[in-house]
Amino acid sequence: MILANTRAAIEFDFGFETFGENKLCEMLTVAKDFARDMAIGATPRWLSLLGWSGTGKTHLARGISRFFKANASVYIDPETGAHLSRRGGFIGWRKIIDHLRDGHYEIMRAVCDDWFVALDDIGAERASDFSVSKLDQIVDARLGKWTVITCNFTRQQIADHMDVRIPFGI
Ligand SMILES: Nc1ncnc2c1ncn2[C@@H]1O[C@H](COP(=O)(O)OP(=O)(O)OP(=O)(O)O)[C@@H](O)[C@H]1O
Ligand SMILES: [Mg+2]
Repeated sequence: MILANTRAAIEFDFGFETFGENKLCEMLTVAKDFARDMAIGATPRWLSLLGWSGTGKTHLARGISRFFKANASVYIDPETGAHLSRRGGFIGWRKIIDHLRDGHYEIMRAVCDDWFVALDDIGAERASDFSVSKLDQIVDARLGKWTVITCNFTRQQIADHMDVRIPFGI
């Protein structure tokens, strides 16, 4: 099973072109490692994809989300043999904030509790007290859960204006 899942991660088509560029190759490698670990049942961790606009962060986060749906969202309960499903997927930060501003707080439960979440573009919303406090709540809740975050701020900007746990590891 572990071998099959490792192969699934290696062979999965993330649709991500590297053009032979070191940085893009590195991005694809860390995404594949993350996907493989998720599928083989390793200890959950985070992957923060930071960098300039247009470098493929969202594209790769969507790819990891597709991998999750295809290879990690269903598992077999070792005791009963039943096929059980895990919740998770891709969501944009702007959408979360819009939902919350409209009073739809139930979105927080999915974002905080789902087994896997790809949280896209956390810099998209001006860092208001409201959005920073919600991000803090989400970061707290997602410690120890499979999480991908994309952001086009620098590490220092994120640490200064958002949350030091995102760029520097948790
Ligand atoms: N390495 C890549 N392989 C294939 N398509 C790519 C790649 N990088 C970017 N793209 C495509 O280019 C466009 C911009 O990429 P994307 O939205 O992922 O960038 P981003 O890093 O998330 O930018 P931003 O910081 O502005 O959100 C998308 O249409 C995406 O599908
Ligand atoms: Mg993006």
